[in-house]
Amino acid sequence: MGVNLKGRSFISLLDYTPEEIRYLLDVSHQVKAESRARERHRRFEGMTLAMLFEKRSTRTRLAFESAFTEEGGHAIFLSKNDIQLGAKESVEDTARVLGRMVDAVMFRGFEQKHVEILANYSGVPVYNGLTDLCHPTQVLADLMTIEENFRRLRGVRLVFMGDGRNNMARSLMIGAAKMGMEYVVVSPEQLRPDESFVNKAFEISRETGAKIEFTEVVEEGVKGADVIYTDVWASMGEEDKLQDRIKMLSPFQVNEKIMEMTGKDETIFMHCLPAVKGQEVTYDVIEGKRSKVWEEAENRKHTIKALMIATLL
Ligand code: CP
Ligand code: NVA
Repeated sequence: MGVNLKGRSFISLLDYTPEEIRYLLDVSHQVKAESRARERHRRFEGMTLAMLFEKRSTRTRLAFESAFTEEGGHAIFLSKNDIQLGAKESVEDTARVLGRMVDAVMFRGFEQKHVEILANYSGVPVYNGLTDLCHPTQVLADLMTIEENFRRLRGVRLVFMGDGRNNMARSLMIGAAKMGMEYVVVSPEQLRPDESFVNKAFEISRETGAKIEFTEVVEEGVKGADVIYTDVWASMGEEDKLQDRIKMLSPFQVNEKIMEMTGKDETIFMHCLPAVKGQEVTYDVIEGKRSKVWEEAENRKHTIKALMIATLL
């Protein structure tokens, strides 16, 4: 049986099988090749996408909006100041109205529960464009970028340094587990992913052969890394924690010394962006020759277009 994702929402990577993720990546590579060949299509002609943002965004908005409009669709940007979303109208009611007017919905906000309600009540595909819990569309772009560099995912050693309990660290763990990779979180013990997610990742790994590890010892975790990945030390909504995090996470900054510690010349550096240069990563590393962050950012668009093609057509 081939993979058929028509009508599906994309709320968490936990809902997708390795085969389905593989399929989304295959379509992403095709979409990128089309883009490079300057091929144009009108796949979303006559369709409308509503994009709901409670938090700021550069890449996610640009990726969804440009991918949808260049295929002939119309994307509507709605910030929290524009619509009732839990304020004056329940999320359920907003979802039901959206579902009667648009073909798909993207949500970026705080609570995972809200993106789930949107999916359950709208009756149209809903895409999670980041919540406090996870950032699954970013992981699609990250897997694509890793695959472009190493021609495989299985067995690739992906090391996440820093705030190991944030949405990115958690989502990458699930993505890596699904695709049979090695995933290492290098962080202070109190900033490891929550136990329930770790248990899910271990369970998935038993089937896929992935390896998941946690360590506070930088040298140990970083050794043999194919990819060193980091993210901001204080995510959106937790800016008040920044001073504490700077104290806790300074030893986990990605700098040239860390990149050398991998012992591999081919190790690449990745970051979902936006980055705070001088905190989680030094200027030299993010601007250096091993950095793939701009390719990774571009791949947001290709993977998001692929996701919408797979779920809408
Ligand atoms: N990586 C990412 O999601 O970027 P934005 O916050 O700019 O959308
Ligand atoms: N962890 C970051 C990711 C931004 C794309 C945040 O939630 O702010």
